[in-house]
Amino acid sequence: MKKTFYITTPIYYSSGKLHIGNSYTTVLCDTINRYKALRGYDTRYLTGMDEHGQKVETVAMEQNITPQELVDYLASNTKGLWELLDIKYDDFIRTTEKRHKKVVKKIFEQLLEQDDVYLGEYEGYYCMSCEAFFTETQLNDGHTCPDCGKKTKLVKEESYFLRLSKYEDRLLKYIEGNPNFITPESRKNEVVAFIKQGLRDLSVSRTSFDWGVKVVSNPAHVVYVWIDALSNYISALGYNTDDDSLYQKYWNGDEVVHVVGKDILRFHAIYWPIMLMALDVPLNFNLYAHGWYMMKDGKMSKSKGKVVYPAPLVKKYGLDSLRYFLLKELPYSGDGIFTPEDYIARINFDLANDFGNLLNRTISMANKYFDGNVKKSTKDYFEFDKQLVNLVNETITKYKEDMDQLKVSSAILNIWKLISRTNKYIDETCPWVLAKDETKQEELNSILYNLIESLRLIGILLTPILIDASKELFNQLNIPSNLQSWDSLDFGQLDKLVVTKKPVPLFPRLDKKIEEEYIQNLLNTESN
Ligand code: MSP
Repeated sequence: MKKTFYITTPIYYSSGKLHIGNSYTTVLCDTINRYKALRGYDTRYLTGMDEHGQKVETVAMEQNITPQELVDYLASNTKGLWELLDIKYDDFIRTTEKRHKKVVKKIFEQLLEQDDVYLGEYEGYYCMSCEAFFTETQLNDGHTCPDCGKKTKLVKEESYFLRLSKYEDRLLKYIEGNPNFITPESRKNEVVAFIKQGLRDLSVSRTSFDWGVKVVSNPAHVVYVWIDALSNYISALGYNTDDDSLYQKYWNGDEVVHVVGKDILRFHAIYWPIMLMALDVPLNFNLYAHGWYMMKDGKMSKSKGKVVYPAPLVKKYGLDSLRYFLLKELPYSGDGIFTPEDYIARINFDLANDFGNLLNRTISMANKYFDGNVKKSTKDYFEFDKQLVNLVNETITKYKEDMDQLKVSSAILNIWKLISRTNKYIDETCPWVLAKDETKQEELNSILYNLIESLRLIGILLTPILIDASKELFNQLNIPSNLQSWDSLDFGQLDKLVVTKKPVPLFPRLDKKIEEEYIQNLLNTESN
C-alpha cells in the first residue's frame, strides 16, 4: 500500500488580492506535494479561504455588499490565481461552507461539555487587521498592534475561554519529545520560550459582531475566527461526520504537514495542538514556519510600490520563472527580498544562461555531429566522466534529504551546482575538437550521452519545481515517459534516443534594463 501524505497551506483571509508573499506558501506546498507524488505517495493537498470575522463584515458594509457576496468574489479570485499558478490542490475549503461550520459547531460544543471551554469576561486590545487580541503590555507605544502596527481597540465583553493553561506541560513535553514537530529549530525555540512564560486562557468567542459560526448553545456568541479557521485542517477531511474516511486515511495516515508563515506560528504551534489534545485527536502533524518575502525597504504592504502581485509577472515572464524565484530566494529559516534586478537576473543567469543554454547546446551538438541520434555509452573515456556521475549521485542524495525537510531553496542550489558542473564538462571534453577526428566518434557519442543523461536526471529533479520547463526538456530530448519517473533516477538507464531537430530555448534572455523598468513600473501602478 502507498504511504499517505497530507499537506496544507494556511487558509487565506478574504481581505483582498493575494501577493507573492501569500502565494509563496501555496507554491511551496504545491512543490512538496508534487515531489511526494513523484516518490509514489498517495498525496492530498488542502488549501482554502478564511472567510469569517469582523474585518469581512466591515469591508462588505463599506462596499455595500453582503459578506457572503464579498467572500464569494474573493474565493473565485483566489481560485483563478491558483489556476494561473498551476496549483494542483485536491480540496479548497471555505469556512462559510456548511461542511465546515457543522464541524466547528460540534468541536465547540464538545469542548464546552468537557469544560475545556468556559464562560467568562474578556478585556483586551483587539487588532482587526490581524484578528488578534493583545494585553496592554504587549502593545507598541501602549496602543498599536505589535504585529502590524495598526491601531487597536479596547474591547470588553462576555466571552468563552479555552483552558490553555491546563495543557501547558503536556504540550511542552510533546515538543521536547518530538524534535521535528516544529521546524526550523529557531521557531521551535520561540514557541518553547513563549509557553514557558505561562499561557493565559484564550478568549474563543465574540459577541460584538455576527459574521461567524454561531455557538449552538448560546447564539449571542460567534466562535473566534482562529478556532473556526484552524479546524479547517480536519473539517475538510470529514472529521466527526458520517463519512470520515478521508480523515481516517490522511490524518491518521503516514505524514501530515502544515506549512505556515512565521507570523501565525503561535496559533499553529500552541492553540491548534491544544485544541487537538482537548479533542483527543492525535497530534500527527509536523509544522514548518517559513520566513517572509520583503521589499528592499521593509515589509510588503499595499501602499504604492511596496507590494508585488504574481499574475502580471506570470503573464509577462511565464510561470516557471515565478516559481523558480519564489522557491529559490526564500532561505529555509530566514526572510527573502524581492527586487526587479534579482528577478531579471535569476531568469537571465540561472534559467536562460545556465540551464536553458545547457539543453540547447547539447541538442545542437547531437544534431550537428550525429544527426540527432545518440546511443548508449557505458565506457569512461575521460577523467571527467566519473566526476560528473559522482556529482549526479551526490545531488540526488542531497535532493532527497532537502526535499524531505522542505528545504527547497537548498535543493535548487544543489541542482544548479550540477548544471554548472555539466556545463563545465562540455568545456573540459571539447567535443568540437573530437568532431574533427573520424577515429573519435565513440568518444564524441559518449560525451553527448553523458550530457543527455545528466539533463534527464536534472529534468526529473526539477519536475515538481519547474512545471513547463521540465516537460519541455523531456520533449526536446524525446525521453520516453518511463525514463521520466523517480524509479529511473539512475545514471545510465537511457538506451538510445533521437533528439528534436528544432530546439527552442527554454527561457529567452531578457534585456536587463527594459525588463527591470517594466517590473518597477508594475510596482508603481495604481492597481498595485
Ligand atoms: N487566515 C489566516 C490563516 C489561518 S490558517 C488556519 C491568515 N491569513 S493571511 O491571508 O493573512 O496569511 C496567509 C499566509 O500568508 C500566512 O502564512 C502568512 O505568513 C503568509 N504571508 C503573508 N505575507 C507574507 C510575505 N510577505 N511573505 C511570505 N509569506 C507571507 O493568516
